[in-house]
Amino acid sequence: ELTFKGRDMIELDDYTTEEIQYLLDSAIEIKRKQKNGVVYQPFKGKTIGLIFEKSSTRTRVSFETGMFQLGGHALFLSKNDIQLGRGEPISDMAQVLSRYLDGIMIRTFGHDNVINLARYASIPVINGLSDMAHPCQVLADLQTILEHKGTLKGLKMAFIGDGNNMANSLLIGGAKMGMHVAVSSPDGYEPDERIVQLSREIANETGAEITVTQNPLEAAKDADVIYTDVWASMGFEEEQKQREAAFASYQVNEELAKVAKPDYLFLHCLPAHRGEEVSEGVIDGANSVIFDQAENRLHAQKALMVALMG
Ligand code: CP
Ligand code: NVA
Repeated sequence: ELTFKGRDMIELDDYTTEEIQYLLDSAIEIKRKQKNGVVYQPFKGKTIGLIFEKSSTRTRVSFETGMFQLGGHALFLSKNDIQLGRGEPISDMAQVLSRYLDGIMIRTFGHDNVINLARYASIPVINGLSDMAHPCQVLADLQTILEHKGTLKGLKMAFIGDGNNMANSLLIGGAKMGMHVAVSSPDGYEPDERIVQLSREIANETGAEITVTQNPLEAAKDADVIYTDVWASMGFEEEQKQREAAFASYQVNEELAKVAKPDYLFLHCLPAHRGEEVSEGVIDGANSVIFDQAENRLHAQKALMVALMG
């Protein structure tokens, strides 16, 4: 018997393989309901607060519409419009919001903000992107791969580019599901060492494999999935020029894709920069599933909210 009620989603390492599989199956079922016009509104009278310290298109719109479709209500709380932007302690905000809401999603820079919010809140806290992790995105990514490939275990996923929040969460999520995750980043831009270590420990238990290499061809070789993300994440914009130089040979393009399996899937969390981390031919080509992936944010997060806040 799996129990999700009242839990937080800070990073996928808090969840077992079986629990992640349940969330993916539930996302697929919730998607099927919606496509068949089945009304599913278990959240009548429930409210989630969405705190944003950074920009968002997908996360905001998918959480807001997802909550509405479930019969509940979502509040968009931009950091500068709430007292957090004027220095109200996170611990106070957490306790106050817990008196009004049934759940909180937060997108913030410091991962500690998510941890602190969860510590002081008595309602579920969902990480909608921190500098360390993006678990909601990876749930949607795993759902997308599962839908297209029919399985996750044993597949090879190559992440080419910045060892950022996406790389971290893909390492953990992929390892949990028994995938071979190969990350290729230039010197100095590798994923967090602690996360690599953790994903290796998880991999030992699930039969997954973790590779970190500076050679993108090695990572992409025979890959079932090629994933990339921007070279300069939110908060790193001023490093754009120096990053363009460092990542120049890490573009996902037709040349690199040649070494992957012919039926590889191309994934990108979006927003993307065509001509930088990915060529137009790849992101707009036949192997790209970026819009299925973006759509699945909606279904995966509905499943997550139902599980945690139900
Ligand atoms: N992928 C993602 O989280 O997109 P947004 O920044 O638009 O929310
Ligand atoms: N790595 C990107 C992901 C955006 C969804 C960032 O943090 O800006």
